[in-house]
Amino acid sequence: MDWKLAGKTALITGAGNGIGREIARRFAAEGARVVSLDVDREGNAQTASLIREGGSLCEPVEADVAVAADVERAFRIAGPVDILVNNAAIWSGDGLLHEVSEPEWDRIVAVCLKGVYLCSREALRGMMERRAGAIVHISSVNALTGIHLAAYTAAKGGIVSLTRLMAVQYGPFGIRVNAICPGTIMTESSRRHYDQYPDQEAELRELYPARKFGAPTDVAGCAVFLASPQGEFFNGSIVVLDGGLTAGVRIPSLYRR
Ligand SMILES: NC(=O)c1ccc[n+]([C@@H]2O[C@H](COP(=O)([O-])OP(=O)(O)OC[C@H]3O[C@@H](n4cnc5c(N)ncnc54)[C@H](O)[C@@H]3O)[C@@H](O)[C@H]2O)c1
Repeated sequence: MDWKLAGKTALITGAGNGIGREIARRFAAEGARVVSLDVDREGNAQTASLIREGGSLCEPVEADVAVAADVERAFRIAGPVDILVNNAAIWSGDGLLHEVSEPEWDRIVAVCLKGVYLCSREALRGMMERRAGAIVHISSVNALTGIHLAAYTAAKGGIVSLTRLMAVQYGPFGIRVNAICPGTIMTESSRRHYDQYPDQEAELRELYPARKFGAPTDVAGCAVFLASPQGEFFNGSIVVLDGGLTAGVRIPSLYRR
């Protein structure tokens, strides 16, 4: 077996559910020792059990990425971290800018953007000493084109800008920083959401050239690639993983035969 991440410690935020859980599982399957960080203690324990059942190592840590003391404690527990995946995010309460309350705006930006700063800051300290490391941010297509969710969009756009700056600032230390911008990824919770709003799902699906959404495994495979030696020359890259959603505009009548 060709382990892509053998001997590496990977800390993955928001690993207790959805895409983060799949990234954690995939990193473990590629030989990494995983530290799964989440505020959701139960979900995170489940992620750890799934990974351990597969014979790999996982240490679950309960922490809030928006709280500096939590993040510092998580990195103390983790020990030296070779790979950081900044995946934790929230968007509940978000929508039209004029309707987002100030506390909701502050909380969404704190989790989605400040959390990236706090976790990256902790990871970078050790990575700079060892002059090696890989950081993968999970942004979104919302950072690239206006769709919905004002606070989330602002935070995800901030991540894209930070990715480029961090690549420039830390490249000389042998540290690579990249971001993935996924389109709609069907997780268990998005499945539950669209089961409630089938019209929304149908409208959204129409916007995808192949009329299909992505899966958590698509994001996990991309994250492994970017963090592994195969992704060695990727630095400051914004990888759009959206099934063509943002590739262009398709005018239906032009394609009707
Ligand atoms: N699902 C999609 O369609 C989609 C599309 C584009 C981008 N993304 C991005 O992918 C990432 C994962 O999304 P998902 O769909 O798996 O979401 P999810 O809600 O299923 O999982 C997010 C995880 O983050 C955790 N989390 C929330 N706040 C936290 C905090 N303060 N500290 C630590 N953990 C916290 C949650 O408990 C949860 O386990 C996010 O960055 C999201 O913006 C998702």
